[in-house]
Amino acid sequence: MSDLPLTGSDVSPTGSDSSPGGGKRVVIVAAYAENRGIGYAGGIPWHIPEDFAHFKATTLGHTLVMGRATYDSIGRPLPGRTTIVITRDPEWSAEGVVVAHSLEEAFSLAAELPGDVMVSGGSQIYELALPFATHQVLTEVRLNPEADVFFPEFNIADWVETKRIDRDDLSWVWLERR
Ligand SMILES: NC(=O)c1ccc[n+]([C@@H]2O[C@H](COP(=O)([O-])OP(=O)(O)OC[C@H]3O[C@@H](n4cnc5c(N)ncnc54)[C@H](OP(=O)(O)O)[C@@H]3O)[C@@H](O)[C@H]2O)c1
Repeated sequence: MSDLPLTGSDVSPTGSDSSPGGGKRVVIVAAYAENRGIGYAGGIPWHIPEDFAHFKATTLGHTLVMGRATYDSIGRPLPGRTTIVITRDPEWSAEGVVVAHSLEEAFSLAAELPGDVMVSGGSQIYELALPFATHQVLTEVRLNPEADVFFPEFNIADWVETKRIDRDDLSWVWLERR
């Protein structure tokens, strides 16, 4: 497993040498609603500042892997993190961003970059990465918003819940693959 710093991560330090990120933890970080919605019209269908703070605390010091559409919705590399953007476009580039043209390439690049591999969406990239994820840090948002992209179904029996914080409007849940 990785001996790189785990700054800001709240996942437990167990890791898996069979993950494709060079033995690093591959962590899905997502916020999804009761209807599994994660996005609408290129953005996130709610505004919960504490969840942005939670995302920041979870991901600081680590390497983000995201789809080009999610990158466009943010519009810049997030400070304190390394950003890998996955695109099929051989011409695509952005300042301060590492570009990959497949999930496999993103994972092999991430193996040499700081911290855990933090898969941060959107729907297409969650779908591709879920089979390889060792951990998930999920926000269950208690809303049913209009959405056009959704978090993929997964079998909860494959996962152990290691931590949970429940609030009226959301729960933060930490899962580790069995
Ligand atoms: N609630 C949350 O936690 C959360 C988190 C992240 C994002 N979101 C939301 O999710 C939405 C975006 O999600 P999305 O599913 O539409 O897009 P996405 O997963 O962010 O990005 C899709 C893009 O990734 C690239 N891509 C996908 N599969 C690929 C492959 N196999 N090989 C190479 N490149 C590949 C393509 O880029 P090219 O078209 O450039 O080739 C594709 O258009 C937005 O609404 C965003 O706000 C929500």
